[in-house]
Amino acid sequence: MKRDIKKVKMNLGKRSYDITIGESILENTQSYMNLNRKVAIVTDSGVPREYSEAIASQCKKSVIISFPKGEESKNLDTYAYICQQMLTFGLQRRDAVVAVGGGVVGDMAGFAAATYMRGIDFYNVPTTLLSQVDSSIGGKTAIDFGGVKNILGAFYQPKAVLIDTAVLKTLEARQFSAGLAEVAKMALTSDAELFSMLEDSLWEKDIATLIERALIIKRDVVEEDERESGLRKILNFGHTFGHGIEALGNLYHGECVALGMLPMCSPTVRKRLSFLLSKMGLPTEIPSNYKDGFEFMRHDKKGDGDTVEAVFVDEVGSFRLEKLSLEKLFSRIEKNIL
Ligand SMILES: NC(=O)c1ccc[n+]([C@@H]2O[C@H](COP(=O)([O-])OP(=O)(O)OC[C@H]3O[C@@H](n4cnc5c(N)ncnc54)[C@H](O)[C@@H]3O)[C@@H](O)[C@H]2O)c1
Repeated sequence: MKRDIKKVKMNLGKRSYDITIGESILENTQSYMNLNRKVAIVTDSGVPREYSEAIASQCKKSVIISFPKGEESKNLDTYAYICQQMLTFGLQRRDAVVAVGGGVVGDMAGFAAATYMRGIDFYNVPTTLLSQVDSSIGGKTAIDFGGVKNILGAFYQPKAVLIDTAVLKTLEARQFSAGLAEVAKMALTSDAELFSMLEDSLWEKDIATLIERALIIKRDVVEEDERESGLRKILNFGHTFGHGIEALGNLYHGECVALGMLPMCSPTVRKRLSFLLSKMGLPTEIPSNYKDGFEFMRHDKKGDGDTVEAVFVDEVGSFRLEKLSLEKLFSRIEKNIL
């Protein structure tokens, strides 16, 4: 049976790589990655075991390293556990690490690969929609530390990214919606046509195209600004206030991004976005204790002293970067949610 396979190429000179999208391509992982060596497969307890096993069965020699699911695991202890397992397995510089999971696994395994023996080959097999459309490409790896999200990390590009759309079938609906929020984010700042396609429920019709379109937006941004010194900041749209909301607990990262985008839009865009978010099964009501989130924002690493560079969307498909004081941002947000 001939499968419909899509390819997006990340062009970063020597660090270029292919991102392959297709249904049930996990069983053919060896065509996209060099598994003819020792491979440490990193996953978490929430990812169905069959996905890492499907890859393990194609490796010359492999170990599956699994840690408890959830953002709480994205810490130094888990990092140490992964590295210890890699060491015990006898992983050498010529060997490889494969992440099989969502953004937490990808960020953790990527950071372990970036630092183990000063960097060994890293492959990413994202299994949540959020990681398939966003976190698996671009090379940002990180762990949380000292109560600050993603404060320790490295830019470390994968050698290849393999996106199997079939794995989304086991993902809980709320996680799927959280991933859609990141797609809405990218469409809002960069692709008015995709935004209209989303309003027409693209995710129900053609998930591979949705993933491809989102990845092309992110790819273009990363190619222009790999280390986040300029344009890449637009990928943080919705994240400044989103991280504040996330610190309140209970909501998923993507749900927080959804809420974090709303006050950063013009009234007309906000109306369209709010309608789309509801359709995607995402929240549109900012939690009443949002002011506690402001406190966390003060500690957010994206803040530069008392000033932040925030992304605003006045018209769908465009963005505006604005430097403003945190206090000014807080009052802007409050004005737009009340
Ligand atoms: N590196 C980047 O550029 C970047 C970008 C955005 C977000 N992130 C990070 O990504 C993380 C969030 O990622 P996430 O939303 O994927 O969450 P996650 O990794 O915690 O995954 C969500 C849950 O889904 C489970 N799961 C994963 N795949 C599954 C599948 N196919 N079927 C059933 N269950 C499955 C996981 O076990 C987990 O419990 C955050 O830590 C965030 O900081 C990183």
